[in-house]
Amino acid sequence: MDNIKRLIIDCDTGIDDSLALLFAGLRKDLKIEAICSVFGNCSAHQAALNSMKILDLIGYPDIPIAEGENKPLIGEASFAVNVHGANGIGGVELPESRRKLCELNSVDLLVKLARENPGELILVTLGRMTNVALALKIEPRLPKLIKKLVFMGGTIYQEGNVAPFVEANIGGDPLAAQKVLQAGFDSIQVGLDVTQTTHLTGEDLKWLAANCCKENEKAVAYLRQALVSYFAFNHEASGMVDCCPVHDPLAMLLTVEPQLGRIEYWPASVETKGRYTAGQIIIDKRLHHEDWPLMGCVLEVDHRKCVETILQAFC
Ligand code: RIB
Ligand code: CA
Repeated sequence: MDNIKRLIIDCDTGIDDSLALLFAGLRKDLKIEAICSVFGNCSAHQAALNSMKILDLIGYPDIPIAEGENKPLIGEASFAVNVHGANGIGGVELPESRRKLCELNSVDLLVKLARENPGELILVTLGRMTNVALALKIEPRLPKLIKKLVFMGGTIYQEGNVAPFVEANIGGDPLAAQKVLQAGFDSIQVGLDVTQTTHLTGEDLKWLAANCCKENEKAVAYLRQALVSYFAFNHEASGMVDCCPVHDPLAMLLTVEPQLGRIEYWPASVETKGRYTAGQIIIDKRLHHEDWPLMGCVLEVDHRKCVETILQAFC
């Protein structure tokens, strides 16, 4: 098929990352070239193992899966065990994978693929931007070599999930995010403004189980199991009833169907200091900071259409 978008996915394979991977793997107009892991929902090692097992569920071809950074540029890592469980995928035990870890780590793999495919690959980050910040150190031309960066992270107007206006992926390594945003990628931010307000419901899961095609039944059974604890966490944390936000899958959807979102471009920067502000994305609508690169912020989506389009990939 013409117009297949080729992706490098950098993620901290937790519950919502896994739905994003399945969606990407099932869309005929996307090709996953590699998956780079990073710490966040779990350790980078666990995230890489999870990615392998998730791809097995849909029989995705063998692709490089690399292990990446296990701590932020400054400070120590903490893993979101309370949200994604000790193994990152809600305690669901999936069969061991026969896939082998890539010999290169995530940073080197990212640089290698970008150099080998200049202007061809879309980079989708669904976790901390630590690997990308380190890749920039090795290859400062990365923003030119990569066609586009789509990232799940941050918030502009919606309240944050780790501090008043801070989201976990950016708050988990603010310095890395600042280095990446200042590097000048053609970037699209998919943040809590749209992900926290897009909900996947228990009804959606029932619909999915009844309508998915035979070869995706294993993947759907996994999702239904993993989402039990994710729904419970979101109930406790934000009072959501029988549903959860759609963070990473929405970023993946907007990568392939950007017309589903309303995007505004603003000069952007990331605060790297402050107990309540480290990791806060600032956009300057006054345009006083001409040196800040423009960032495309997705500020509105048709929530239902997005969820339905994600589920449709399994049918
Ligand atoms: O804040 C939501 C983000 O943090 C998602 O990417 C989730 O998987 C975690 O990484
Ligand atoms: Ca994630």
